[in-house]
Amino acid sequence: MTEIEKLIAALNKIAAELNQQHPVEEQIPRVLRSKYFRELIVSLINHPMYDPKTELEFQKQGKVAALPILRKMRGCFSQPTVLCFSSFAEIAEILIPSLAPIFRSFLNKLQKSNQAGVTVKSLLCLDRDADFYQNLTVDLEKNNPHALFPTSPYRESEGSVVSSSDDHTIEAVMTHRSFTSIRIEENVLETSNPILSDVYSPLGRCVCLVDKNVEESYGSKIDKYFSDNGIILHKFVYRAMEIDKTLASVEKMLHEFKNLSVARHEPVLIIGGGVLADIGGLACALFNRNTPYIMVGSSIVSAIDAGPSPRTCCDGFGYKNLTGAYHAPILTITDKSFFKTLRKGWLRHGVAEIIKMAIVKDAKLFEQLEKIGIDLIETKFGTVSHPNSSAINDASREILAGAMRSYVESEYGNLYETHQCRPHAYGHTWSPGFELQSGLLHGHAVSIGMGFGAFLSWKRDWLGLSDLNRILNLITDYELSLWHKILLDEELIWNAQTSITDKRGGNLAAPVPKGCIGECGYINELTRTELRNNILEYQSFCNKFARNGHGIEPLCSDVGLENPADVLDINNPTKAA
Ligand SMILES: NC(=O)c1ccc[n+]([C@@H]2O[C@H](COP(=O)([O-])OP(=O)(O)OC[C@H]3O[C@@H](n4cnc5c(N)ncnc54)[C@H](O)[C@@H]3O)[C@@H](O)[C@H]2O)c1
Ligand SMILES: [Zn+2]
Repeated sequence: MTEIEKLIAALNKIAAELNQQHPVEEQIPRVLRSKYFRELIVSLINHPMYDPKTELEFQKQGKVAALPILRKMRGCFSQPTVLCFSSFAEIAEILIPSLAPIFRSFLNKLQKSNQAGVTVKSLLCLDRDADFYQNLTVDLEKNNPHALFPTSPYRESEGSVVSSSDDHTIEAVMTHRSFTSIRIEENVLETSNPILSDVYSPLGRCVCLVDKNVEESYGSKIDKYFSDNGIILHKFVYRAMEIDKTLASVEKMLHEFKNLSVARHEPVLIIGGGVLADIGGLACALFNRNTPYIMVGSSIVSAIDAGPSPRTCCDGFGYKNLTGAYHAPILTITDKSFFKTLRKGWLRHGVAEIIKMAIVKDAKLFEQLEKIGIDLIETKFGTVSHPNSSAINDASREILAGAMRSYVESEYGNLYETHQCRPHAYGHTWSPGFELQSGLLHGHAVSIGMGFGAFLSWKRDWLGLSDLNRILNLITDYELSLWHKILLDEELIWNAQTSITDKRGGNLAAPVPKGCIGECGYINELTRTELRNNILEYQSFCNKFARNGHGIEPLCSDVGLENPADVLDINNPTKAA
C-alpha cells in the first residue's frame, strides 16, 4: 500500500466511527482503542520528516499540500486530542474531501469538550492497550524522543558524537531539520478561508504582529477573521520603516511575547512588509531561542523575498542587516489582494526583487515581465480595475508564483548561507554599503546593483550586448534606478566591496547573469582600480537609457518613508554589513 492509500484507509475508518454521533467522551476512546488507530500511530511515529519516496508520491498524486500536515501528524501521539483531530480534518480535506465535514463537525464538538487538551498518549496509556503504549513510551524515550516529548512539531535535530578512550578528545557532527510551506493564496482574511484558522483554532489564540500601514487598511478585517473563527487575537501594531529596523523594536516584541508566555510550538503571526518580516522574524528567532512564525507578506518585497527568507535581521551602527539569525517561517502566505493599498513607489521597488530572480534564474519569468510591463504596477498586480483586468490578473499570479519558486529553490537549498553560490544575492553585493547612506529604497539600491553587475558581466564577455540591453531596459521600463551618484564615492563603494567580501567568507562571489538571461555566474576578482573605472564607464553607459538611468521616486523620502540616512551613527564608518 502506498502512503496515501494507508492514510485514506485509516481516515475512512476513523470517519465511520465519528459519524456515529455518540458523545465526544465516548467517541474518542472508540477511535483510540481500535487496531487501525494503533497502526496509524505507529506508522506516523516511524515516518521520517523527509522521505523522498513519500514526497514523490504526493507530488504525482497532486497532493503536495498534504505533506506538511503529514509531517505534523508524526507528533500525534504526544499531542492534545484537539491538535491530532484537527490534523485529521485538514488532511481529509485534501485526500478525501467528502469526509472532511465529518471531521470538522467532530472537531467542533471536541473543541468545546474537556477532552480537547488531554494528550492522545495519556488516553492511550490508560486504556485497554495500556501495556502496548506504555512500552512504546519507554522505547520512544530512548529511540525517538521527538515523537514523545517534542518541543515543537516543526523542527528536529540529531548529532553524532565520538570520543577517545579517555574522553579528552570529543568530536561531534550535528544536523537539524525543519520544514516550511509556501502558499500563493487570495483573500486569506475571508472568514471562510481556513489557512490561518486551521493553525490557530486548535491553539485557541493567535499572537500577531501587524505593520502599522497594514493595520490602517486591514485592521478591522484581521479582527473580524479571528473573532468569526472563535480565536482570541492578541494583536500588536508596529510602525515598520527602515529606520525602525532596530534591536530596540525587536526588544519591544520580545517583551510582548514574554507577557503572553508565547510557547515554542505556537507560531506567531506576522502581517506586513519587508521591515516587519525582518524584525518580527528576528524576535521569533530570539524568543526562547526559537519560536515558530507564519509570515503573511503584504507588500511585494515581503511577499516573494523578505517573507519566505530565513535571513531575519535588523540594522545597527550604520550597517544594514548587521544583527540577525537564520530563522525561516513555518508558513509563508503570499496574498496579492493586499497589494491594492500599496503606494506606487512601494510596488515599484518591490518589483526589483522579482526582476532579480528573472535575470539570474528564470528566463520565462523575464519574458513575462517584459510582456506585461508597467501595467503590472499600474494595476497593482491586477487588484485594481483595468480594461484588460482578467489577463493582467492571470499574468500577475503567474509572475508571483514563478518569482516565489525561483527564490525558494535558490534560498532553501542553502538555508544557512554555508556557501556563496547564491543567485538571489544578485544586486545585493555593493548595495548594502550604500543603501542607507543614499536614502534609497531597498529595491532601487538593488536595481542599481543589478544594472552594474550585468554591465560587469558584459565587460567580461560573459553576456552579450543584446542581453545586457534587455536587462537594463527592463529595469528602466519598471521605472527603477540604474544609477545614483553615490556610486562615485570611491571610498564608500570600495568599503562596501571589502565588507561584503568579509561577510561572504573571503570571496566577493558577486552573482551576475552569465551566458544568457536566466543563468547565473559569480565574479570573484575585482580590484579597486577596476571597480572605479568600471563605475565610470557604467555611468556613461546608463546615459543611453530612459532618464539617464535614474529611477522614479528612488528615495525613501520620495514615497512617504523616513530617510534612513538620518539615523546613521556618524561615529561609525559607513560601510556594508
Ligand atoms: N530578509 C531578507 O532576505 C530580505 C529580502 C528583501 C528585502 N529585505 C528587507 O526588506 C526591507 C524593505 O521592506 P520595506 O518594508 O521597507 O518595504 P516594503 O515594500 O515591504 O513596504 C513598503 C511600505 O509599505 C507598507 N505596507 C506593507 N504592506 C502594505 C499594504 N498591503 N498596504 C499598505 N501599505 C503596506 C509598509 O509599512 C512599508 O512602510 C529592507 O529593509 C530590506 O533589507 C529583506
Ligand atoms: Zn533584497
